[in-house]
Order: sequence, then structure tokens, then C-alpha cells
Amino acid sequence: MEQHKGSARDQFVSKLGFIFAAAGSAVGLGNIWRFPYLAGRHGGGAFVLFYLICIIVIGFGLMLAEFAVGRHTQLSSVDAFKKLDRRFTFVGAMGVLAAFVIMGYYPVVGGWSVAYIFKTIMGQLSTDAAVMEQTFGSLVGGIASPIFWTVVYLLANVVIVIKGISDGIEKASKVMMPLLFILLIILVVRSLTLPGAMEGLKYLFVPDFSKLTGDVLLAALGQAFFSLSLGMGCMITYASYLSKKENLVQSAIIVPTMDTCVALLAGVVIIPATVAFGFDLGQGPGLVFVTVPAILATMGPVLGRIFGLTFFLLLSVAALTSSLSLMEVVVSYLIDNRGWDRQKAVLGSSTAMFIICIAASLSMGIWSGFTIGGMNIFDLLDWFANNVLLPLGGIFITLYVGWFWGVDKVRDEITNNGEVRFALFNVWIFLCRFVIPLIIAIVLLSGIGII
Ligand code: PFF
Repeated sequence: MEQHKGSARDQFVSKLGFIFAAAGSAVGLGNIWRFPYLAGRHGGGAFVLFYLICIIVIGFGLMLAEFAVGRHTQLSSVDAFKKLDRRFTFVGAMGVLAAFVIMGYYPVVGGWSVAYIFKTIMGQLSTDAAVMEQTFGSLVGGIASPIFWTVVYLLANVVIVIKGISDGIEKASKVMMPLLFILLIILVVRSLTLPGAMEGLKYLFVPDFSKLTGDVLLAALGQAFFSLSLGMGCMITYASYLSKKENLVQSAIIVPTMDTCVALLAGVVIIPATVAFGFDLGQGPGLVFVTVPAILATMGPVLGRIFGLTFFLLLSVAALTSSLSLMEVVVSYLIDNRGWDRQKAVLGSSTAMFIICIAASLSMGIWSGFTIGGMNIFDLLDWFANNVLLPLGGIFITLYVGWFWGVDKVRDEITNNGEVRFALFNVWIFLCRFVIPLIIAIVLLSGIGII
């Protein structure tokens, strides 16, 4: 984070600094790993359409609400709510729990990504589904190897968060993100020129509404929250470093737009190629790790390796800028509210995260027989955080902003005391009061089978 030193609280110097930090948190495994596999699993077009509706109706609005709370209080989420209205402190606490739960499996996938940097360099690429599935299966189904890569990934987080050097990573991501964009576009071209790819494109964008069950709706909603880093106070914390001059509305439009573009690009890389190769669309978390190497294999051994190295490196860095923000939510809670010093907070929380990661990793292999409600530990953590905690957080944050904060105060914050025009203010407040909490509540209840 580029900061003004010496002011009451450090702030982002440039608008771009903030947008890149927020986009760094948003763009991660959620876009490139999770979005395509959920779209593949949940029937494509209808899932994608509802996901986009969630981004437009809920994502923009909730992000603006989180930005407003963060910048107004200049505090991270637990303290922000404590200051604004003690009754809502639990919203911040729920966010800390969500960050912790997500960090119980996110580093496992981050570890896979790091492992694939080496696998693609070693030329373990093939357009044969059976070979690629076996390569992925033997990595995630193993014991020591996936845990080793999880440690590598988690250690990178620990070092960066202890040293408080995420500034450097965020600066690097200013270069990496455009690079990721370019690489995805190259892969889109390769994927769409595979014979049979158009069928996959249709699958991704032509909705088949018979696929829309409550479960699928909730998956799309949860994905919107996860991908935009919403519902858990992460964006509140980032915006707490924002100067009173910045235009919140503009930022709340730019960040979700960038995030959604990356997700759609990843979908257009992966789904058409999966169909073209005749791989299983519903295979779940392995999708990107099976299909992308197969696309690379069609590029020849040299280009395939170069692009493979670049792709998984960029994916790992994108994952890192997201997990740093997740770890920071937990760490800053322990520092600000429990009085721990930074080192103790980082080491303590990451040790606990690591233990859960071990269980999550083993649940893809030797512990796969242990399930609750048909979900292994990995899926359960993912489901509970994204389909329960984040949507609940979203309900309470928008209700707070819509009903409890006071419309005039909210307007002053969003418009920088009247200096910035926001013609849709009333529409947005209406969304926060009624539409967003209601949609989330209905989808949540139908997704968990209550209605
Ligand atoms: N948005 C990140 C991703 O798409 O990978 C994950 C994430 C980061 C979720 C930070 C929530 C969060 F607070």
C-alpha cells in the first residue's frame, strides 16, 4: 500500500493504489479456479446469468456499502461496527470467522497452483483426459506432497504478513494483473480455436433454466461474494485507508468490473476447451488443473512450458494477493482486539489455519470417505464460508447502511459531503434497505433447503 506517512492514519496516495489493492484481493482463485468449475458443475449458462445478476444487483451495492463504512470510520471491520453501533459488532466478528474458515482451504489450492508451476516446467502436459486427471489426482490424493505445497504457499503468506510488506506485493501486482489479463486473452484464442469449442461457449452462455435449483442459485450468490471479497469486512478494512477525497462510487464500479472480466475470461478459456477435449465438465475443483495443461499441450513443448510457467505463476500471485487480505483480516483482529503483537498474531493464526488445511487436503484423498451432508471437509469449509457466512454478512451490512446508519450521514460519506454527484443514491439506498437483503435471504433459505 502506498501511504502518506505522518497523517493521522496512513492512506493510499493514489487512487490507482487503492483500486489495485482492492482488485488484488478480489481477483484470485475465486475467478480462475472456482468460477469455471462451478459453472461447469452447475449447468453453465443459467448459473452464469444468475451470477452476473448477483454481481450487478448485489455486488456493486454491497461493495459501495462496505467502502462507505470503512472510509467513514477509518477502522477495520470489527472496530468499525463497534464504533458505529455496538449491536452490529457481531457482523465484524462473523467476517473474521469467515476469513479464518476460508484460510482453512484456500492455501491448499494455492499450494496446488505452486505445484503446477513445476509440473508444467517438467513438461507434464497432455491432451489426454485420463493422463491429466491422473496427474491431478495423484497430487491432491497424496498425503505429503499436497501438504508440502500448502506449507510453501502458507509460508509465503506468513513472511509477507509478518514483515508487513504487502506493499511490495501490491506494487508487483500492478504489473502482474495486466499480464494475467493478456495471458488469459492468449489462452482464450487458443481455447476457442480448438475444434468443438463453440459447443462449450454455448454451454457457458446460453441459459438452460431447468438447471436453476435453489442450490445452484445459492452457489452463484456465494461465488459472487467470494469473488468480490464481500460480506466479511475485507473491503471495509481496505477502504479504511482511503482518503476523504476519493470517489467511492467510481471505485465500487471499477473493482467488480475488473473482477468479473477476469472470471468471464477464465470461463471462456476453460469451459470451451473442456468440451473440445471431451473432459468431464462437472469434475469439480480439478477442472482448471486438468484443462489448462491440456490447452498448453496443444501449443507444443516449448511454448506450452513457457505459457504454463507464466500462467501458474500469475495464478499463484493472484491467489497470494487474495489470501494476504484474508490473513490480514484475522491478524488485525487479533492485534486490535486481543492485544497480540503482529508476530504472535501471524504465527498463531497461521498455525491454526495450517491444521485445518491439513484436514482439508487429506479430505481430497485418504479422508474422502468422511462426509457430512455429502460434502468432504474441503467442500464443507468452502460451502459454510461462502454460502452461509458471507451472504449473512452481506445481509447485515446492507441492513445497517440502509436502516441504521442514517440516510443523511450515508449520503455525506458517499458524496464526499456533496462534492461528488451520485444520481442513483436513492436507488442504491432502496437496494440496501430491501432488495439486497431480501434476495440474499430468499436465496440463502432456498439454497439450504428451508424454503
Ligand atoms: N476474492 C478472492 C478470490 O476470488 O480468490 C477470495 C477472497 C479474498 C474472499 C478475500 C474473501 C476475502 F475477504
